[in-house]
Amino acid sequence: MAQRSSSLSVNLSEIELDHRYRLLIDAVQDYAIFMLDTSGNVASWNPGAQRSKGYAPEEIIGRHFSIFYTPEDVAIGKPDHLLEDAALNDRVEDEGWRVRKDGSRFWANVVITAVHDEAGTLLGFAKITRDLSQRRRLEELERAAAASAHVQQARENEQKRIAQELHDDLGQSLTSLKLTLAVHEMELIQHVPEAIRERLTSINELGGQIDAIVASLRRIAADLRPPILDDLGLGAALEWMAEGFEQRYGIPVKCAVNTDALHLTDLAAISLYRVTQEALTNVARHAKASEVSVRLLVDERYMYLRIHDDGVGLPEDAKRRPDSFGLLGMRERILQLGGTLSIYSKSGDGVTIAVKVPLSKILVENSTCT
Ligand SMILES: Nc1ncnc2c1ncn2[C@@H]1O[C@H](COP(=O)(O)OP(=O)(O)OP(=O)(O)O)[C@@H](O)[C@H]1O
Ligand SMILES: [Mg+2]
Repeated sequence: MAQRSSSLSVNLSEIELDHRYRLLIDAVQDYAIFMLDTSGNVASWNPGAQRSKGYAPEEIIGRHFSIFYTPEDVAIGKPDHLLEDAALNDRVEDEGWRVRKDGSRFWANVVITAVHDEAGTLLGFAKITRDLSQRRRLEELERAAAASAHVQQARENEQKRIAQELHDDLGQSLTSLKLTLAVHEMELIQHVPEAIRERLTSINELGGQIDAIVASLRRIAADLRPPILDDLGLGAALEWMAEGFEQRYGIPVKCAVNTDALHLTDLAAISLYRVTQEALTNVARHAKASEVSVRLLVDERYMYLRIHDDGVGLPEDAKRRPDSFGLLGMRERILQLGGTLSIYSKSGDGVTIAVKVPLSKILVENSTCT
């Protein structure tokens, strides 16, 4: 029930709200709806107000509404300014921090409307406050996710650029150095007496060292951004990754791919590639597995990526470790694609990472073939 304060002017107390309106206001739980007298003292209080601000009607009616404001806002006279504004312009809207009875703060949208009698005399104010904390939290989360997606994309672009520079610039220079060395070797062989020709072997060794540097450089560039992903697509890149994993760790990987004809967006290809890379790195680091399988499949609407190992399975606290970002990062990458990532694990029965992404979000428009 809406309650009236004795501090309200006589005129306001004479106004009888229609019974149905009162029921309506009392039924509202999501909004604090209450009235203030002309000085800003609380004159009525609905259950929504009690719920969001924490005061029972008898605790708050008659008290000045500045109690809902932060000390900083009170110090600059914000409550009074809002009332002056509402009296002058009939209505004022504000968004900001408000304080509950227990001292906690919430983000509120507030509308204060001046209430006049028929002769135009100010009777008081109607105040509607909506708690937007939840929405604000969601917006903050969305902003954080967007910022992290942006950073991730920038990082991928930068890695791609460095990989290209390594390959095109440094790689080409080393190749031409090797050729020049070979030409000098040929020339020297013709001019150097037979007795000291074996000294030329040091030139040969230099050639071997250049080859080793080129191989390292290729490996570093491929780690940064595998050229096969851009040249032959995700399926080929996963098969290449699986082969490399098998050679490096001696754990057999069964790889099944049926997505050859699809042209994925750059973001989708690199995200699914990185998820598989992290999943396989986890297998190598944690799983003690004897076999791994990687499957990339599509139907008419979705792409499915599944990485399964037959190792020890996830420990209980795996998903909550504060210093572990692999599983978290995988999930974020897939969320960015509008998909879902599920992790299944039973002790002793390995781990399965199952990804499902809608094709509508990951295919380059108007194209089906690479
Ligand atoms: N395939 C797996 N088999 C067994 N345990 C796993 C597997 N994958 C992950 N885990 C467990 O889950 C934990 C979290 O994995 P996550 O990838 O998030 O972090 P991490 O690998 O420890 O560190 P990083 O942040 O470098 O990836 C790991 O510490 C490990 O205990
Ligand atoms: Mg990891």
